[in-house]
Amino acid sequence: MENKGCVLAVDDQPINVKLLSVQLQSAGFVVLMAYGGQEALDMAAKHMPDLILLDIMMPDMDGYEVCRRLKANAITAGIPVIFISALTDVAEKVNAFKCGGVDYICKPFQKDEVISRVGTHLNLYFLQRSLKEKVEEETAKRRSGEQMLVQQSKMAAMGEMLGMITHQWKQPLNAIAVTAQDLEDAFTHNELDEEYLHSSVATITNQTEFMQRTADDFRNFLRPSKEKIRFGVNDAVEEVISMFSPYFAKSGIGLKLWLKGDDFTITGYPNEFKQVVLNLISNSKDAILSRKDKGTENKIDITVGKDSGGHITITIRDTGGGIPEDVMDKIFKPYFTTKPPDKGTGIGLYMSKTIIETNMGWQLSVSNVEGGAEFRIDTWHLQK
Ligand SMILES: Nc1ncnc2c1ncn2[C@@H]1O[C@H](COP(=O)(O)OP(=O)(O)O)[C@@H](O)[C@H]1O
Ligand SMILES: [Mg+2]
Repeated sequence: MENKGCVLAVDDQPINVKLLSVQLQSAGFVVLMAYGGQEALDMAAKHMPDLILLDIMMPDMDGYEVCRRLKANAITAGIPVIFISALTDVAEKVNAFKCGGVDYICKPFQKDEVISRVGTHLNLYFLQRSLKEKVEEETAKRRSGEQMLVQQSKMAAMGEMLGMITHQWKQPLNAIAVTAQDLEDAFTHNELDEEYLHSSVATITNQTEFMQRTADDFRNFLRPSKEKIRFGVNDAVEEVISMFSPYFAKSGIGLKLWLKGDDFTITGYPNEFKQVVLNLISNSKDAILSRKDKGTENKIDITVGKDSGGHITITIRDTGGGIPEDVMDKIFKPYFTTKPPDKGTGIGLYMSKTIIETNMGWQLSVSNVEGGAEFRIDTWHLQK
């Protein structure tokens, strides 16, 4: 006969256990037997039955106490318990449910009643267990999906950074190469005295120090912030601009910063905030570079100010022609991009929104303005 589930029958009277066991086995259940409270607890933890039929009056430990202990142990807490007892008092039944029982059967029990109640509760239990597994499976899937998104957005940011480091290093690398060549020339022409040597070494050292510094800057930039701290919004935005404006200038785009005050400190994750600003200005750069109308000025204005309620706001406004109305409600969705695959991943704005709204509790919104788009970070949530 098929196995319909494993039932642990507990009673201090061996005859009762035997009777239950015969009846349940004939209906296709596997039956384990225990003759006292402690033995029941041990067997439950060891064999993990799918259901427990539990007598109330037992000499070593009563059924209520057994049930309480089962429920208090994370391993056995989920196993449904049906009480089976000669006590017919309503208060006893209520107590059984209070201890965590799912049902109550009165002695002397009828075979059919026991079998159908056990069957019903087992079905419920299996259903519940499979639902729980489904939920866990789905949650795990979602979590790994999100991790992948975070990973991809990091890769995208790193790709962007690599481009900028290469750009920043071009000039010092050139200078070093020229200095080395120059040293060799000086040697061939007998012009290499001590002073010449020192000055050349100084040039090379300066350049390598600069390269070291830029590499460190970029590394710090990508490092996740460990905890929320108070930081100066002006400094954070200024840092992004000074790091990236040479790179933007190369594409003919001016980054302009408008600070409407000098004491704008706020609590949040500074590195993530800088990454959001970088995401937004990178999008503006892409929009400006792909704009058909070449007549307008290529610029990105970044403003740090306060709204009428005194809360810090940061706006990033560009001259990239704005966002077409038909894609406006999709741009924050993961993987939505209007760019070719080698240019866009579609996760920049999704990550930015997550960082600003979920992680910091602020707000990121967008609107089209004259000639371009304006992204706006409002920090009023936090300070409400
Ligand atoms: N400043 C902007 N101007 C115009 N369109 C923009 C701007 N910022 C974002 N977009 C639109 O939103 C889309 C999604 O942006 P994003 O999530 O950063 O992904 P990606 O930059 O990889 O495409 C972009 O493909 C673009 O169509
Ligand atoms: Mg982007």
